[in-house]
Amino acid sequence: MTSADGSATRIEPVSVLSSRWRDRQAHGIDRYLELDGYASLDLAFAKDPAELVQAVKDSGLRGRGGAGFPTGMKWGFLAKGTGRPTYLVVNADESEPGTFKDMELVERDPHALVEGTIVSAYAIGCNQAFIYLRGECGFAGRRLAAAIGQAYERGLLGRDIKGSGFDLDVVLHRGAGAYICGEETALLSSLEGQRGQPKLRPPFPAVEGLYRAPTTVNNVETIATVPWIFRKGVDWFRSMGTEKSPGPKLFSVCGDVRRPGNYEYPLGTPARELIMAAGGGMLEGRTLKAWTPGGSSTPMLTPDHLDIPMDFESIQGAGSLLGTAAMIVLSEDVCIVGACLNFMKFYAHESCGKCTPCREGTDWMAKILTRLETGAGRKEDMDTLKDICDSVFGRSFCALGDGATSPIVSALQYFRDEFEEHVDGHGCPFGTAQALLGGLGGSSFPPHGSGDEAARTSSSSTRQGAE
Ligand SMILES: Cc1cc2nc3c(=O)[nH]c(=O)nc-3n(C[C@H](O)[C@H](O)[C@H](O)COP(=O)(O)O)c2cc1C
Ligand code: SF4
Repeated sequence: MTSADGSATRIEPVSVLSSRWRDRQAHGIDRYLELDGYASLDLAFAKDPAELVQAVKDSGLRGRGGAGFPTGMKWGFLAKGTGRPTYLVVNADESEPGTFKDMELVERDPHALVEGTIVSAYAIGCNQAFIYLRGECGFAGRRLAAAIGQAYERGLLGRDIKGSGFDLDVVLHRGAGAYICGEETALLSSLEGQRGQPKLRPPFPAVEGLYRAPTTVNNVETIATVPWIFRKGVDWFRSMGTEKSPGPKLFSVCGDVRRPGNYEYPLGTPARELIMAAGGGMLEGRTLKAWTPGGSSTPMLTPDHLDIPMDFESIQGAGSLLGTAAMIVLSEDVCIVGACLNFMKFYAHESCGKCTPCREGTDWMAKILTRLETGAGRKEDMDTLKDICDSVFGRSFCALGDGATSPIVSALQYFRDEFEEHVDGHGCPFGTAQALLGGLGGSSFPPHGSGDEAARTSSSSTRQGAE
């Protein structure tokens, strides 16, 4: 982004969702209360729930779980007068390669999620909420369970919360560790004790969700944002971000950058600021080759796209998707075919198998990418990959299939010559095949040299935002 005189305009980080992350005691209720925690409860309970839903609508808050659907509108779809309870289900399954914002939020500031769950539940008339947490995240689970327990002890959960007459119970449910269980209908099936596979919509969860009752499924970051809107108001919220994508946002930056981590900026901040300033720029001696704006399921972009604002509309206009704003940064040292294989192994492993295009297509693509990497690639492989993507995208039962095609289609668009090099040179010019095929399944990128470098490119981080 440049100003009128042609100089680069710096966007400043914001400190909203990450404002308590520096405080190492904020995960405990005493410190959380000292830091104005749970202040939104009295404000919310003094209002009519319909007013609160309207405030969320007016704020323009869009879901932070990937699709960017307007939260207030989603709440407005909840069926009324059904004679069944209304459920709030918080989606803390976060499993996509490159994503790690929700876990950091839960680990550092678990009461923020509990507070958000209480006021959101009050707004939609829900007395029973669930938090579906990715099972492998033991530390986050312990922190969250402790926070829920403390909230019960202090009368912030349970019967007649703070004398308001409002009752709320919260169940923390740990999943068994499947990416597909982050998809909302699969999540609800899993929560009911069934196999975690997506269901046909309609009926949408807002009409028939958990136990066939009206249900809203919302992301951790979405729910943790709600108390701030109630406390600080719609105008304050809209003072950040863009007209159609307002508010603060956690951006996760990982890969070949000096300071991988979560950083909080207004939506619409250009990727250059996030990668080159917040993320500390590229690792020593590396130059940028490609980056994903929103995790492995969003099409890769290139250095030419660095000045595009990171908001839902602008990134879509550039041919990709904002998704969860998880930016995986790949340098010129990374083999794009190898990166695609790494992603595709993940999708083939996580495909739930319910529909043929995704079940067969992801596995087939992983096989083709493997042969390209190992020197058995054929001239027609690139066209075959594109053809398979065309048969998977839009023809799969859920968005996992669509997302699996993103790395391939974008890599073929921008880096087809690299695929051709693999065919002509009978293997990977980066020499990463062995590392990739020896230790598949993780979310880190193929290492190039020392084990230290491999560790640095791991997508996990606990670095604080806005540092
Ligand atoms: C394969 C797949 C995995 C998903 N994983 C997650 C996840 O881990 N967390 C999440 O919030 N949303 C995830 N989603 C999106 C959810 O289906 C849903 O849109 C989201 O939880 C809605 O919350 P929001 O409106 O607050 O964004 C996933 C979707 C798909 C297709
Ligand atoms: S697209 Fe993949 S994950 Fe989704 S239902 Fe089909 S097989 Fe399952």
